[in-house]
Amino acid sequence: MALQAPEGTKDLLPDESKFWTYFKATAAEVFGRFGYVPIETPLFEQTDLFVRGIGEATDVVSKEMFTAVSGQNLETLLGGGTIKAKSRLSLRPEGTAGVVRAVVQHDLVPQGAAPAKLMYAGPMFRAERPQRGRQRQFNQVGVECLGAEDPSVDAESIIMLMRFFEAIGIPVESMRLLVNSMGCDVCRPAYRDAVRSYMDAHADELCDECKRRAETNPLRAFDCKNSGCAAVMAHAPKITDHLCGDCRDHYGTVKQYLVGEGLSFEEDPKLVRGLDYYTRTVFEVQVTEGMGSQNAIGGGGRYDKLAEEVGGRPTPGFGFALGYERCVIALEAAGYEFPRAQRCDYFVACVDDSVRPEAFSLVQAARNAGLTVEMDHQHRSLKSQFKLADKLDADQVIVLGPDELVAGTVTVRNMATHEEYAIGLAAMKSLLSRFGNQLFDGDFSSMLKSASEE
Ligand code: HAM
Repeated sequence: MALQAPEGTKDLLPDESKFWTYFKATAAEVFGRFGYVPIETPLFEQTDLFVRGIGEATDVVSKEMFTAVSGQNLETLLGGGTIKAKSRLSLRPEGTAGVVRAVVQHDLVPQGAAPAKLMYAGPMFRAERPQRGRQRQFNQVGVECLGAEDPSVDAESIIMLMRFFEAIGIPVESMRLLVNSMGCDVCRPAYRDAVRSYMDAHADELCDECKRRAETNPLRAFDCKNSGCAAVMAHAPKITDHLCGDCRDHYGTVKQYLVGEGLSFEEDPKLVRGLDYYTRTVFEVQVTEGMGSQNAIGGGGRYDKLAEEVGGRPTPGFGFALGYERCVIALEAAGYEFPRAQRCDYFVACVDDSVRPEAFSLVQAARNAGLTVEMDHQHRSLKSQFKLADKLDADQVIVLGPDELVAGTVTVRNMATHEEYAIGLAAMKSLLSRFGNQLFDGDFSSMLKSASEE
């Protein structure tokens, strides 16, 4: 059998690849209005970055990381030896830790500077059990704003994400925005202890993993998919009842900003997110129809301690990431018409091979002027060239025939209306030569038409 793509990965074939490009461009346009600029970080980092940044007790780090070993180091490991920390590498399961590492390494937020607003798009890797909307390699678009702890950053980021989802075509009424505050170093320890005591009191109703979580990281139990654990955790103490004054004020102001901009949201005190770096605001956007269990299309929050965790000076941060593949599922569920990747403005058809050189040079001239043009490269019959033009969604076909060329004319056929007219080849070429890569299909069609009537 021919080899297949690895389990949990997906090829982006041309139509989808083109949509991914459009998706990224739309994100760059919307986020650009909020001051975000691009950054690219490596697809793999030192494993330690994720252990320290995301948290050793998270599922992402403890179970789902793809760890990469270079050839020489693999031999050392297989031989029972150890390799240096800097050679322990993992494919990035998310983008935040790498971006914060880059911000610290390159001092992108010097003391007193304006916040760094960074955006990225690309593949992330998590060894999860694959299912619809859950892959082992998936694409995210994410943003990180470092250097400001004001609630206005939290609010504008959430607003920005909702604006992006609207711009890309996800119906507003199909989205649910959930928000919560995770507290800070001052109030969270006592809250964590309260959850731990509550879990200890219900230990016989919890799965073995949650019994362990009660010791290592009790808040992770809020994410447990086991129905018994979910029933217990539904009545666990709520973080919002344990926030310190500063965190309560911060959360209150974020919500005021959202309300002020007319954004509807639900408060969900059980929303803890699967990564340990969050402090204060966290949020998630879910799609209510047609998504199954993998219905979170994006999420994020504040991480005011992460820069210190990776060795930098205190630098507050806020960000989010959205899952491209899940957005595609949401768009499909909403009946979105995806544009086709392969299309052209004009197809130049040859009646026979004698006109090929002239057709070839006309195609190049039209491309140089900015049009998307295609011709046959397989010596097809005229009929099958028309079929190909149809398949490529060509708006117009320009037909070159030997007799017409002697007379210096070509025929232009509109594929939608089947209207045809003749025009001088010299007039067409002179029109094309007046443009340097700036011609648009609509303009050229009308100019051609009027030239043919002169
Ligand atoms: P996350 O919630 O783990 O957050 O991932 C963000 C989004 O990526 C999810 O809402 C989902 O749409 C998509 N996603 C996650 N895992 C998968 C998967 N296995 N298959 C398909 N899609 C997936 C983060 O990654 C944080 N770094 C977000 C953030 C940025 N927080 C602060 N700054």
